[in-house]
Amino acid sequence: MPVASQIAYVNGDFVSEDQAKISIFDRGFLFGDGIYEVTPVIDGRLVDRAAHMQRLKRSLGEIRLEPPVPIDDIDAIQEDVVRRNSVTEGRVYLQVSRGVAERDFPFPQDPKPSLIMFARQVPFLDTETSRRGIRVKTAPDLRWKRRDIKTVMLLASAMAKQEAIDAGFDDAWMVEDGHVTEGSSNNAYIVENGVVRTRHLSTDILPGCTRRALIALAAESDIVVEERPFSPDEAKAADEAFITSATNLVMPVVGIDDATVGDGTPGPITKRLRELYIMAAKAG
Ligand code: PDD
Repeated sequence: MPVASQIAYVNGDFVSEDQAKISIFDRGFLFGDGIYEVTPVIDGRLVDRAAHMQRLKRSLGEIRLEPPVPIDDIDAIQEDVVRRNSVTEGRVYLQVSRGVAERDFPFPQDPKPSLIMFARQVPFLDTETSRRGIRVKTAPDLRWKRRDIKTVMLLASAMAKQEAIDAGFDDAWMVEDGHVTEGSSNNAYIVENGVVRTRHLSTDILPGCTRRALIALAAESDIVVEERPFSPDEAKAADEAFITSATNLVMPVVGIDDATVGDGTPGPITKRLRELYIMAAKAG
């Protein structure tokens, strides 16, 4: 919901969120024709910012959309939005859409892309949920076939998450061809005999920036990460499970469907990886 005291960025202007407006003809609204990024903010600083900008650039390229301002400027504006809203712990959201055009399926000849941003203070470092862990429900992956592109077409993910919540769970793990692809808005992992497993990168999943940072941190700490798919049954029998995302960082998963993961509390490797990630983020 817009908050009047918060400042959003809309196509070159910093405005009160309740004054922030986009046309009904914007292709992001009519076609889901846009790309977004969510970057964590810790101690007032953007975390994994280079990785988020690199992924933004790639996603835009994949849908043949030029950003309205250079990527470096987008990065600087994000920092400004965080500062103007005095966000110390939380996140900043940015979206580039193909802009306003007559409603027609082909891309407009001379697009004027829209760029919007907003930020939120959301304490997420020391939370009850991260101490306790979450329970996920498996669900068929109903999304399109280019999940490596971070588009705003999020209806299938929203439906999966809502169905999980309606059934009394915290989130959904999506399953395709007998294997977990990823969470509704996060990457999925299990730990077996000290080895961390997560699905390899392909068009089946989003290449998470948190995933990338976590794999590097694990390597530095001699924690083995194997990039290969796993089934829901493997996950239910695993010692530990967790998810990663800009909004959760590293979040323990303690239940999958009706199974308890490990002893039902966050596992030691999961806790270690969460600590390592937060320490690295704080160190800048
Ligand atoms: N979601 N997979 C999917 C489908 C995602 O939507 C996300 C992020 C991730 C994790 O990526 P990262 O570590 O770069 O946040 C994986 C964001 C947080 C969102 O939609 O709010």
